[in-house]
Amino acid sequence: MDFDFSALRQQFPFFTAHPDWIYLDNAATLHKPQAVFDAMDQFYSHQNSNVHRSAHGLSQQATAAFEAARTTVAQFLNARFPHEIIWTSGTTAGFNQLVFGLMGPVLQSGDRVLISTMEHHANIVPWHIHALPFGVELDVVPLTAEYRFDLAAFAELLKRRPKVVSISHVSNALGHIQPIADIVRLAKAAGAIVILDGAQGIVWEKMDAQALDLDFYLFSGHKLYGPTGSGVLYGKTEYLELLRPLLGGGEMIKTVSFSGSSWNDLPYRLEAGTPNMAGAIGLAAAIVWLQQQDIAAMQQHKKALVQRFYQGCRQIQGLELLSGPTTNAGIVALNLKNEHPADLATLLDQQKIAVRAGTHCAMPLFQALNSKGSVRFSFACYNSFDEIDRTLTALATAVELLTE
Ligand code: ALA
Repeated sequence: MDFDFSALRQQFPFFTAHPDWIYLDNAATLHKPQAVFDAMDQFYSHQNSNVHRSAHGLSQQATAAFEAARTTVAQFLNARFPHEIIWTSGTTAGFNQLVFGLMGPVLQSGDRVLISTMEHHANIVPWHIHALPFGVELDVVPLTAEYRFDLAAFAELLKRRPKVVSISHVSNALGHIQPIADIVRLAKAAGAIVILDGAQGIVWEKMDAQALDLDFYLFSGHKLYGPTGSGVLYGKTEYLELLRPLLGGGEMIKTVSFSGSSWNDLPYRLEAGTPNMAGAIGLAAAIVWLQQQDIAAMQQHKKALVQRFYQGCRQIQGLELLSGPTTNAGIVALNLKNEHPADLATLLDQQKIAVRAGTHCAMPLFQALNSKGSVRFSFACYNSFDEIDRTLTALATAVELLTE
């Protein structure tokens, strides 16, 4: 399949409506193809009703569409069973359920959990809320001098016998791709349960949960061309069975009396309340759409965008690049010496170039880098080389303005 950039871009209504915007905030959220809008519109216009509850035909249709969406995700991740896919509202919600659920059945006071310096707050703060107050201890893998995952230090920290290792596939702030095959292999050899945060990785590389032998994997729909408020917590059946539900309510129970309740089977046990049905259907539509594209060519295109941008940045005096150009999933973080990142981002915004500035929900990373934050340029398959060149021109002008 050839990579037809124009044909691909035309499938995104945002760019037809707003050709003037250069959108380089793709790590925050992606734009969505028409196919996702169509699937959600079809649900709301023709099937809208509640799933798993009512006796009428509409509810049966909605239930069938909702469960077919689960199967689509299960096949995409190569899960063994559809019930290993738990719908969430996103990676953050998934982590909160997961960390809460591990406490007691898996983690007790005195146990250790190993994360890395590059984690998003979603893989830090839930441990603070649900685990540390109960005596769990957190260890942190440091960075190498090139701001990469330090595999040697990781191997050393595994000697402390963490019960859980929880690492992101791709740093949301730097774009660096972690050596996940080695991480999983070493963690498993040390007897740890492995959680992979796929929030930024899922759009870079299709994940095979069985081939990688993941115990848990999380991602957000909106970072995979799907709708906001949709997401997935994947887990191996035997580990999902252990999790205590964070949310109680309708559908997650088998029986309820005033003295207690018993819980439903997977996946419903971990999906209390009316689920985001349209979100799940939209996310499955995004996956079906993605599978019709040339994913390898999309990845190549993104790699080429990063290279071009990186080379251009090197020509602009005063820029400090925090991200490396290789083993990078399409994110470049940089700073202008002695300037606050927000100033650069504001000048770019005036040119309708959308980037993110700050600490990118990764404050501990920037503490480790001794930096007040960065300006983050994150690329997607629908960005063009022309957009990169226009951004570089705007960046050079902004740097001139700020340094004159
Ligand atoms: N987690 C998203 C980001 O990195 C919002 O920007």
